[in-house]
Amino acid sequence: MRHLLPAALLLSLLVPVPALANPLGDLFHALFGRHKEVAPVTDPLYLEECGACHFAFPPGLLPSRSWSALMDAAALEDHFGDDATLPEEDRAAIARLLDTASADRSWYKRSIKVRRSIPAGEAPLRISEVPYIKKRHHELTEADWKDNPKVNSMANCNACHRRAERAVFDDDTVKIPR
Ligand code: HEC
Ligand code: HEC
Repeated sequence: MRHLLPAALLLSLLVPVPALANPLGDLFHALFGRHKEVAPVTDPLYLEECGACHFAFPPGLLPSRSWSALMDAAALEDHFGDDATLPEEDRAAIARLLDTASADRSWYKRSIKVRRSIPAGEAPLRISEVPYIKKRHHELTEADWKDNPKVNSMANCNACHRRAERAVFDDDTVKIPR
């Protein structure tokens, strides 16, 4: 214990993760296991704009390259068939926030699993298509989501994960609605 903390401090200075909002705090939590989930979202602009049509997905569930593809101004005009255009200032602010809190820059356990599961050249646009997330749902059948009128889409995380708004996804907080 006495040797671990100085080692952690030193390591956090050496690890090449440039844009961590709070490298020491994040590393501390990663080492001592409190950050088991994903960082929750609290930014009011993000919650309002990106939570208007669906659950406001925690940024730590996709890598930076996925968020920048999603947040491209032209891409937002055709966002999964919807127009999700934003005023330029808001678009830039949200893009920045997503980049800073993405899976690449987080020490939360699920973010680490997300980023490790995605091959380097790929930038999935759907969290539900991230290999780690897909694997955790391999036991579900279409009757659980696609043909379930209370769910419809795997993007509807909060239909089944009752604490999704707090970025908690562990299996004892899941209940498939019937
Ligand atoms: C006008 C409505 C609308 C707004 C506003 C909107 N989205 Fe979406 N978004 C959608 C639709 C529709 C889908 C596809 C949902 C589905 O397949 O069930 C989607 C899907 C997504 C997905 C993929 C989910 C998955 O894992 O399948 C991500 C990520 C996403 N949106 C991020 C955002 C972000 C970030 C913002 C804010 C900039 C945003 N959305 C704003 C309509 C919207
Ligand atoms: C149809 C319901 C349903 C939807 C929609 C759904 N999940 Fe799940 N999810 C489950 C179930 C059930 C499990 C537990 C599987 C098991 O027992 O291993 C699970 C497991 C998980 C796990 C692993 C939990 C653990 O303890 O290791 C994560 C992470 C997760 N889901 C994230 C998501 C995210 C993010 C979304 C949205 C993009 C989502 N899920 C959408 C039902 C759902």
